[in-house]
Amino acid sequence: MIDIIEKTRDGRPLSSDDIQRLVEGTVDGRWPDYQLAAWLMAVVCRGLTEEETFQLTGAMAFSSGRPEPLGLVDKHSTGGVGDKTTLVLAPLMASLGYPMAKMSGRGLGHTGGTLDKLESIPGFQVELPLETIRRQVEQVGVAVVAQSRDLAPADRRFYALRDVTGTVNQPSLIASSIMSKKLAAGTPHLVLDVKVGNGAFMTDVEPARELARLMVSIGRYYGRKVTALLTRMQQPLGWAVGNAIEVNEAADCLKGQGPADLREEVLALAAELIHLVTQERVATAWQRAATALDQGKAWEVFGRWVRAQGGDMAAVERGLPLAPVHRVWRAEESGIIRQVNTRAVGEVALILGAGRHRLDDPVDPAVGLRVYLKVGRRVAAGDVLAEVFAESEDHAERALKTLAGTVEWGDPGNVPELVLGRVS
Ligand code: URA
Repeated sequence: MIDIIEKTRDGRPLSSDDIQRLVEGTVDGRWPDYQLAAWLMAVVCRGLTEEETFQLTGAMAFSSGRPEPLGLVDKHSTGGVGDKTTLVLAPLMASLGYPMAKMSGRGLGHTGGTLDKLESIPGFQVELPLETIRRQVEQVGVAVVAQSRDLAPADRRFYALRDVTGTVNQPSLIASSIMSKKLAAGTPHLVLDVKVGNGAFMTDVEPARELARLMVSIGRYYGRKVTALLTRMQQPLGWAVGNAIEVNEAADCLKGQGPADLREEVLALAAELIHLVTQERVATAWQRAATALDQGKAWEVFGRWVRAQGGDMAAVERGLPLAPVHRVWRAEESGIIRQVNTRAVGEVALILGAGRHRLDDPVDPAVGLRVYLKVGRRVAAGDVLAEVFAESEDHAERALKTLAGTVEWGDPGNVPELVLGRVS
């Protein structure tokens, strides 16, 4: 391990045997935390070559064998505020005949996790045995479950260390972490949603494009079909931020209602996945996906999916209940929204109790907010800017106070498109 650390420290490339040893010792516990942390810091300072990154990802992905894929298509988002696309995209893909099985993580910090959102549906189970998942994917065409502990176990150890040693933000480490889990799950077609903006991990387009390129090349190296979209996260996606409130909004989208940007993003991702599977033109694929959504086919599959995982679909149909203290924020005067501090909006959800600071913190499914803050929106005095659903007056008060500081007013000039770029 000392030899491996020294090589990376000095900018000498690791052989694939070195990388195999590094990953094996990480999984079996042979290498202590301090040596792994030293190596991770060496990577941050010196970087890894593309070839080293490919080898590292493969070693992490396949350390427990190569399982049969569960689904045909998969999606990964680098995370943003109000991102509930999986809840719509998964049943939509299934309704078109492309099964989607997704292993997902829990949310940490200001971005919520898909599992937390799903668990706000009474009875919904995310821990399922592999055989049950397999049967469900066959019968319903969709499953979203908690990531198995056997999936890329080296990543779990690396990630925990990166989180506490200032070594998260390095392209090879991020790309290998994300792609090792995707390769380990075995799905042949993958769309990556790389978020860019002040509510995302990556705030600028160029570094995001570089990360996307690296992830797409890793996928291709291992024979997977991968496309990445760079999507704007300079405001929350849709209106709802929270758990139950996001499920309600996803249900609206599945019924042809709800915010336009959520629908636009779901259809863009769906079209890319269909194109990867069928080679059909992206525009035709988009049309097919839009028709399935509009005809209620995805909504029908959503119902079957929720019931298959034990969820109370009648509760979703009624609209999941929200927290009792409902407060509205209205504009005091007219103006145009120039900028939204998206991260701060995510932090409001945290204040309300919808997110977590530590992985074992509980989340409150019923709290959350709807923010009608879109860059370029013209607002008149008295217009509703946000609604807060809190458990107490005190929480609602703090949330509204923080929200008031999230908007800058003025002319934003040209407002960028939702999809900022594509890497394939
Ligand atoms: N998500 C991951 O799974 N890994 C990273 O390194 C960053 C985001």
